[in-house]
Amino acid sequence: MPATESLTIRRPDDWHVHLRDGDMLKAVAPFTARQFARAIVMPNLAPPVTSVEAASAYRDRIISVAGSGFTPLMTCYLTDQADPAELARGHSEGVWVAAKLYPAGATTNSADGVTDIARIRPALERMQDIGMPLLVHGEVTDPDIDVFDREAVFIDRVLEPLVRDMPALKIVFEHITTADAAQFVRDSRPTIAATVTPQHLVLNRNALFAGGLRPHAYCLPVVKREKHRLAVRAAATSGSPKFFLGTDSAPHSRDAKESGCGCAGIFNAPFALETYAQVFDEEGALDRFEGFAAEHGPRFYGLPLNDGTVTLERGGCAVPDSIAGVVPFHAGETLRWRLAG
Ligand code: NCD
Ligand code: ZN
Repeated sequence: MPATESLTIRRPDDWHVHLRDGDMLKAVAPFTARQFARAIVMPNLAPPVTSVEAASAYRDRIISVAGSGFTPLMTCYLTDQADPAELARGHSEGVWVAAKLYPAGATTNSADGVTDIARIRPALERMQDIGMPLLVHGEVTDPDIDVFDREAVFIDRVLEPLVRDMPALKIVFEHITTADAAQFVRDSRPTIAATVTPQHLVLNRNALFAGGLRPHAYCLPVVKREKHRLAVRAAATSGSPKFFLGTDSAPHSRDAKESGCGCAGIFNAPFALETYAQVFDEEGALDRFEGFAAEHGPRFYGLPLNDGTVTLERGGCAVPDSIAGVVPFHAGETLRWRLAG
């Protein structure tokens, strides 16, 4: 059978992105808007986006730099003080699509996150009642737990009990990195889903140490062993509606990455679709790419599918060494698919 030379799919969405603010927002948002019709925008600014007014103003700033044709979908940053009434107001006014749970201290700008999930019980109950999805950074923060085990331990200690206690809550297990997470989501009820990033489909933990310390391969949750990468690839390309595209594109300046204490985050927005297409091609699953990129997400969130299409073509796509002062994922490499137009 001849290899597919081009692939046209419904316009996709990114169900997890960090667009930042100020100059960085201006620099990075157009890349997301070029690839995606909509994106779930993470609220971990400094200070975090905890009020409806802050989310609404941030949405306006995004629209002003990303141009028309791109719809930012805003999220509320949950703290121990999360107010059920404020969550419900933001949701009913169409500002907040979902709320994000960062365990306090788990990642970039998570210091104001939740210290104990029991503290946000009233907020979660209200979200369950109104059908507002909970987006979860699924890692425990206990320093005694090995950093490579923090996702699996989170499932046992937090997620499994939560799924049991709140039988109607919609939950997205964000940026899954382990076989444990893929299996947990697959075996859970239909209102439990997961996003998958480009980097967790491509890298295993050897990438962190390939010929030296590699800060640009460092993100959270950290990339895992090869067997986990393979399990995450199998889940993403399985055709299951529980798995969908979420880049977790998380730009940090080159200086902030190449440092004695480098920031976590991979800037993958400029070539995300190209990377995902290459992975689906390698797995012989190009026929399932549209579901992953453009259908499973909106169906889970209860949003309409996008109109319009994008076309990817087989052919060399050179990734620059630097984009707007940020080193992108695959810097200096050539990808095997490119976005047409
Ligand atoms: C994200 C960031 O920099 O905001 N970093 C990352 O490594 N993914 C935060 C996050 O999603 O954990
Ligand atoms: Zn993220």
